[in-house]
Amino acid sequence: MKRIIVAPSILSADFADLKTELKRIEAAGANWAHVDVMDGHFVPNITIGAPVVKSLRKATPLTLDVHLMITDPQKYWKDFQEAGADIIVFHVEAVKNAKGLLEEIKASGIKAGVSIKPATPVSEIESLLDSLDLVLVMTVEPGFGGQSFMETQVSKIAALRKIIDDRKYNCIIEVDGGINDKTAKVCVAAGADALVSGNYIFSAGDIKKAVESLR
Ligand code: DX5
Ligand code: ZN
Repeated sequence: MKRIIVAPSILSADFADLKTELKRIEAAGANWAHVDVMDGHFVPNITIGAPVVKSLRKATPLTLDVHLMITDPQKYWKDFQEAGADIIVFHVEAVKNAKGLLEEIKASGIKAGVSIKPATPVSEIESLLDSLDLVLVMTVEPGFGGQSFMETQVSKIAALRKIIDDRKYNCIIEVDGGINDKTAKVCVAAGADALVSGNYIFSAGDIKKAVESLR
């Protein structure tokens, strides 16, 4: 059986003590740290920018999976790459030339992904899949942690799994929003490779158990 990548979202962590929080998820067996960047424009919430990613980079060897929920990813992605991001994911709804941006990010030597909001169909990104390292399926409306998983999005995971397998593309399917031990099973059964989880992991008494319960 394939090993599921677990990416705790630090949006639910203690922002005053991120170094300790990173150590905790590292010790719990997490694979990546998922970093939610929001601009108050693409989504109705504001979080963190590249200077914070720079500090996170110094504090952890974990893969930094940076999810840009911002209006102009083409204008800002480089700041995050220079800050030490390993993966940069932008929203396809936020750009005109997704392919061009993907190629630019990949040429910088890091991995590139696109994300789709719940209302965006798989057909919007189908032609990008062969150049993508990762596709991020949102199972909540982006903007906030702690929301409920949208079952309606599971068919998208399955559709992507089929296309990627049939065409032998090298693209990871990551799922983000409302992931807990129960919804994780649904996503993995549909074909997910990586799971983002914020509230479920950081509110758990035993975070190691919580991370393991997602695999
Ligand atoms: C939502 C963010 C998610 C969020 C996940 O816009 O992209 O990464 O933090 O948090 P939970 O797991 O609490 O839904
Ligand atoms: Zn996210």
